[in-house]
Amino acid sequence: MANIVVFGSQWGDEGKGKIVDILAEQASAIVRFQGGNNAGHTLVVDGEQCILHLIPSGVLHPGKLCLIGNGVVLDPAVFCHEIDKLAAKGLDVSPTRMMISKKTHVIMPYHRLMDGARETVKSDAGKIGTTGRGIGPCYEDKMHRCGIRAGDFADPELLRGKIALALEEKNVLFKHHYGLEPLDAEAVFAEVQPFAERLVPYLGDVSTAIQEAQADGMVLFEGAQGTHLDIDHGTYPFVTSSNTVTANAASGSGCSPRDLHRIVAIVKAYTTRVGGGPFPTELQDADGEYLQTKGHEFGATTGRRRRCGWLDLVVLRESTRLNGPTELAITKLDVLSGLKELKLCVAYEYRGQTVAYPPQEQNGMAHVTPVYESMPGWDEDISAARSWDELPANAVSYLRRIEVITGVPIGIVSVGPDRAQTF
Ligand code: GDP
Ligand code: IMO
Ligand code: MG
Repeated sequence: MANIVVFGSQWGDEGKGKIVDILAEQASAIVRFQGGNNAGHTLVVDGEQCILHLIPSGVLHPGKLCLIGNGVVLDPAVFCHEIDKLAAKGLDVSPTRMMISKKTHVIMPYHRLMDGARETVKSDAGKIGTTGRGIGPCYEDKMHRCGIRAGDFADPELLRGKIALALEEKNVLFKHHYGLEPLDAEAVFAEVQPFAERLVPYLGDVSTAIQEAQADGMVLFEGAQGTHLDIDHGTYPFVTSSNTVTANAASGSGCSPRDLHRIVAIVKAYTTRVGGGPFPTELQDADGEYLQTKGHEFGATTGRRRRCGWLDLVVLRESTRLNGPTELAITKLDVLSGLKELKLCVAYEYRGQTVAYPPQEQNGMAHVTPVYESMPGWDEDISAARSWDELPANAVSYLRRIEVITGVPIGIVSVGPDRAQTF
């Protein structure tokens, strides 16, 4: 059966969690391959909401294997807290259905401290507006080759030594550069050790688990963040610290690119962004307010207000060439009901030229002017629609225009947060 990769095509919060939950029904395993608990994926089943930060969004389906790949950065305290909350709902979160790669890097207390310290000293314009979860500093240590990996948790003496070594350098920065109290290596070890012990039974070989799950059925790869937050291809430096593009589904989980078959781009019917960075179609007017309020656009991780704007097809064109989607899943179409006129950004004016793709210079996106096409809106509430036939003609035209400009067919339409509000 064809494996599926789900990815965010904009700046995150497109509704990946909801779509993964739906597709997970047909999967034998669901894998997270990058990011960490900077993600907030919302699932709503029969009116009951569940927000996941680290555990794959297939967890609500009993018996499905939930895998955390090597490309993820895992905060052990958050993992334990999340499985405890799920267990309290009566879900099976035992190691029989849940596995963490031994190669997954671990977010330590000093990563969170560093994340906050770095943001604090930046000017307002320079702040990335990170989630403060220690994501960037953990990936830095991975690349610097001094990171702690989940597999190290099985060897407390190795863990103790690696913490002490990591802190030698970081404490100089904490004390002399950021004016913070240095951290005591033994205290950090003592803080982490109880979580480390709980994690050991979950450690495993995720590559082999994926291979075996493929033999039984379909593997579903769950992206976090969005393409324009990608460390290489996003609006650098206002990005996250991992590759969010679909190619990383293979390297971030330990399988071959040939194992990635169907690629589903999650596209919010308009655009949102949390944190700093350029956002060409951002609306500062009543329409932006309408999208923010009607779409309940608040961050699922930090609770911050999401910035809102028109759908940006330049952003989507770039996502299409970087990720190779075989289909689009359009979410939050219902939020657009009631707007008289809808605008679609089809190109940018940049340095005197009309361009179809985002400029590649640092912060180039901050200097573009969107070129808009206008389409008529619709008034009808579409949250009960369950087929294309039940959509107003103007909503169908809006969707068809997205297909034409991206060159990718729409496979899924979502008209409300609930699992059932989908066709
Ligand atoms: P993710 O990070 O991509 O998984 O997305 P989030 O969960 O952070 O944000 C998406 C929000 O929109 C959540 O609150 C979802 O419950 C909600 N949502 C998803 N699909 C729809 C939809 O079609 N309509 C509406 N109104 N809400 C939706
Ligand atoms: P999901 O998976 C939206 C943003 C942060 C900040 C930047 C860097 O729910 O779509 P980081 O903490 O990663 O170093 O922050 O990236 N960001 C997200 N925005 N959705 C997310 O995840 C995000 N994860 C990180 O707001 O601008
Ligand atoms: Mg989110």
